[in-house]
Amino acid sequence: MENFVLHNQTKILFGKGMVAQLGTECRYFGKRALLVYGMESIKKSGLYAEITGLLADQDIAIIDHGGVVSNPLLSHVREGIKKAKDNKVDLIIAVGGGSVIDSAKAISCGTCVEHDVWKFFTGKKSIKQTLPLVCVLTLAAAGSEMNGGMVITHDEKRHKFGTGNNLLNPKTSILDPSLTLTVPKDYTVYGAIDAIAHICEFYFTTKIKAPVQERFMEGLILSIIDSCDRVILNLNDYEARSDLMWCTTLALNGWTAAGLGLVGFPMHMIEHTLSAHYNVAHGAGLSVIMPGWMASMVARQPEKFNQFSERIFKHSNTDLLKNGRAGVSSLKEIFSQWQAPVTLAELDIPESALAELARESLPLAKNWRMNDYSEKIIHEILEGCL
Ligand code: NZQ
Ligand code: ZN
Repeated sequence: MENFVLHNQTKILFGKGMVAQLGTECRYFGKRALLVYGMESIKKSGLYAEITGLLADQDIAIIDHGGVVSNPLLSHVREGIKKAKDNKVDLIIAVGGGSVIDSAKAISCGTCVEHDVWKFFTGKKSIKQTLPLVCVLTLAAAGSEMNGGMVITHDEKRHKFGTGNNLLNPKTSILDPSLTLTVPKDYTVYGAIDAIAHICEFYFTTKIKAPVQERFMEGLILSIIDSCDRVILNLNDYEARSDLMWCTTLALNGWTAAGLGLVGFPMHMIEHTLSAHYNVAHGAGLSVIMPGWMASMVARQPEKFNQFSERIFKHSNTDLLKNGRAGVSSLKEIFSQWQAPVTLAELDIPESALAELARESLPLAKNWRMNDYSEKIIHEILEGCL
């Protein structure tokens, strides 16, 4: 294993009814909060009313900032920053999935500076200060609730860029699996696929042999498949929702990548271009890109793919390449069984779009220092996703 420093500062309150503690958790950080949320789900479920009641009980004034869309937009983040500055808020509260939490993170750092927040995403400025952030997670997927990452789309440029900093880690995140009971099947599946992708990015891009981390990641992938299968059978299965929620948080909270040295995020790099240009759900995009990327990598890492195939799917072909490919096919088959898209055609992305998508992936490849991904290589990977 490589040397590593692991310091995750997010306090997690996990379980049914934990949301009741929101007011006291927030009170600690001040009396004026910007409340960031999405389009309609929290109003429909009654969570909005519950949360505003809990905050009122603690005399916390709320400045409302709803309307975050999936694949969240920079323009809405900028509006949030203006509200936060005008109202001199002490903290940000995010109630929702990854899009809401990422927007809240961008607002939390953008409020502390005079320059435009997008400079953090292009690497022109670095984050030195943030407002405290408290989250209530309503969707098991992105892992943003326990990490320092954020992903925002520039409205005009259609660049979907991600960046990270430890200061962006939420102070507290409330993970109540019962809040995810209303998530429909498609978004439940997309969340599971997103978390599998987070793990696979690290699993397949590390150059380090790390048996403990490998077993940890394989265990998480198996648990995600198992818990997602159970949720699909019964969307109201609290235990299955709990298992899935904890897995998706663990997939991207720093523990999976610890000790792996330099890792890449190539599937995300390509998917972010898809969702920026075609506004597809992040997990749906990964469901297409992941099997295509993996298929293009088997021959380069036959041992690793063979191990994945043996340990996840119990395939035992003695030909390493064939066995590795069988594992990739099995993963794709699971996504199909979950009724997630596995081809670009299912996302209504035509072959004629590949050249532009490959070209548009390059700025993010450069930002994330994945210099071995040329336009030609990305194009070939996308061809494998048709
Ligand atoms: O807007 P509302 O009405 O709330 O509906 C949302 C949205 O339509 C709905 N939803 C959320 N909770 C629900 C619910 N519907 C019913 N019941 C509930 N309890 O779900 C839809 C999708 O929400 P969204 O937040 O977009 O999904 P997700 O959590 O998958 O987040 C996706 C975003 O996270 C980014 C992605 O790129 C994408 O922009 N990511 C962030 C990461 C990070 N910060 O570490 C890492 C990830 O790789 C990812 O890139
Ligand atoms: Zn992701």
